[in-house]
Amino acid sequence: MVAPCKTAILISGSGTNLQAFIDAVEGGNLNLDLTLVFSNNPEAYGLERAEKAGIPTACIQHADFPDRESFDAAVIAELDRFEPELLILAGFMRILSPGFVSHYAGRILNIHPALLPLHPGLNTHQRVLDAGDDWHGSTVHFVTEELDAGPRILQGRLAIKPGETSTELEARVQAVEHQIYPLAADRVGSGKVKFKDGYATVDGVRKDDPEVKIY
Ligand code: GRF
Repeated sequence: MVAPCKTAILISGSGTNLQAFIDAVEGGNLNLDLTLVFSNNPEAYGLERAEKAGIPTACIQHADFPDRESFDAAVIAELDRFEPELLILAGFMRILSPGFVSHYAGRILNIHPALLPLHPGLNTHQRVLDAGDDWHGSTVHFVTEELDAGPRILQGRLAIKPGETSTELEARVQAVEHQIYPLAADRVGSGKVKFKDGYATVDGVRKDDPEVKIY
């Protein structure tokens, strides 16, 4: 078996996606070495999840720094002590500076709760309902300097049910996320999916559209 990819997971909150990674690794279904869980929020419940799973944790609060660049430099210094090969943003509620993104170029993944390029930004579930969309879901993508705009890897789609509320939709989207995020990360960790010249490649072939799974 190939050596597991050294991975740091960055969170700000509950960490249900983090838990999906922990469960997949513990179940032997994911060849990642979860070397660090990092948070900018000391109250993040995900830190407890990591501690329960025996994963090292670190926390640096952005409010202690005068600007984004100095905060990001401190985060880089902390992360690099663990020599991560892959960074997983899992509800990490900070915009990353260009310096941060280029330091880990092609090695940062994010999950966004919408079918990108539709609905970047916040409050996606309500916006999808307001727009009258028929489909919703979540997208795993490489992180680039532009928010929610990096090359897409994998998308989980679900049909919106008549009369569904945004809370109900959010719960269904989260369940999809817990399946697609570890799967997509495994493909990057194993080298099957790569970031090259601003694009995603699968087995060396450029892909402009993500793989799609319907739930
Ligand atoms: C997820 O819905 C993800 O799409 C977004 O932030 C949320 C994190 O949830 N980026 P959790 O902390 O993993 O439960």
